[in-house]
Amino acid sequence: MYVCNCKGLNERHVRGAIDGGARHVAGVFHACGESPQCARCVKRIAALIRAEKGAPMALVGAHMPSPQQMEA
Ligand code: FES
Repeated sequence: MYVCNCKGLNERHVRGAIDGGARHVAGVFHACGESPQCARCVKRIAALIRAEKGAPMALVGAHMPSPQQMEA
């Protein structure tokens, strides 16, 4: 099942990044060699990090700004 449709990341990719040490959403993208496009997947990725590591949502990048917000 795809987690990030823009970059074609599925749950296996995201869990692999988390197992490899990613502790926040930006780290998952970095580990996958990608960067967010629309950022609609941020909360789903953050929820997977939280489920795997028990980290609070505030610390996993659930509110990471979209690329458009970062350019503004
Ligand atoms: S769904 Fe992940 S960046 Fe768009």
